[in-house]
Amino acid sequence: MKKYGVNELRKMFLDFMESKGHLVMKSFSLVPQGDKSLLLINAGMAPLKPYFTGAEKPPRTRVTTCQKCIRTGDIENVGKTARHGTFFEMLGNFSFGDYFKKEAIHWSWEFLTEVVGLDANRLYPSIYLDDNEAFDIWNKEVGIPAERIFRFGKEDNFWEHGAGPCGPCSEIYYDRGEKYGCGKPGCTVGCDCDRYMEVWNNVFTQFENDGNGNYTTLKQKNIDTGMGLERLAVVVQDVDSIFDVDTICALRNLVCEIAHKEYEKNYADDVSIRLITDHIRSATFMISDGIMPTNEVAAMFSAV
Ligand code: SER
Repeated sequence: MKKYGVNELRKMFLDFMESKGHLVMKSFSLVPQGDKSLLLINAGMAPLKPYFTGAEKPPRTRVTTCQKCIRTGDIENVGKTARHGTFFEMLGNFSFGDYFKKEAIHWSWEFLTEVVGLDANRLYPSIYLDDNEAFDIWNKEVGIPAERIFRFGKEDNFWEHGAGPCGPCSEIYYDRGEKYGCGKPGCTVGCDCDRYMEVWNNVFTQFENDGNGNYTTLKQKNIDTGMGLERLAVVVQDVDSIFDVDTICALRNLVCEIAHKEYEKNYADDVSIRLITDHIRSATFMISDGIMPTNEVAAMFSAV
């Protein structure tokens, strides 16, 4: 497999989705517009919520983006795992009442195996508990044996974030090999360690959560897919962590240079180097979207 760079992978994805009829749109700002349920944009679908609910008409019923995202929910893992960062780019293809499960699943497989060239024998789909429709597409159409398809519950395979459009999902995991595993008995797809890395999430967005756990069926069935660009680069480049992929590694090396530290000499220093690298990315993108930092709590409150 060719070890594509981050910038190549971003373009390959957007070009592929464009060839499937999607309109390529620019990343939206990290600052949510007209959405009081979020402090920061945390997923490719977040700025597109009105298109999923049908409240607004999208420029096309098929859209693709590479969206700047900030997620702080996993902040304690940043620097310690291979895959967590507060800032990341999310590749996504979206259907607003257009195609549904069949196309979304087939295209995710086609992109990963034929365009990027990942080894199909290392890929494992997961589905929501009783989503037999998704199971049949993976099993009968794509040809994945039943024992390689994992069924997970709401915690893993139902995507929602507070209020808004949501639904069951089907993820794709990549087995990076034993060298990245925890070695514990039972380590398999879904394990918290860094061996089986989730790269793609196909969400079948068909419900709306009112924020209090009440679900209503949306007028239209939608698709919201998300793939962390940095994670994809980790598996394609076969490197240890997101801090070793080409673009982020350049920044990490600069952090080492300024701090007069050598990477991979001492675990505690490495965690700090990774944290600083991650936080610089987040801070830079937030500032470029107009969020001004301060270390004065009083200033923060007087601004609101
Ligand atoms: N919304 C889903 C996620 O963020 C898929 O895009 O994983």
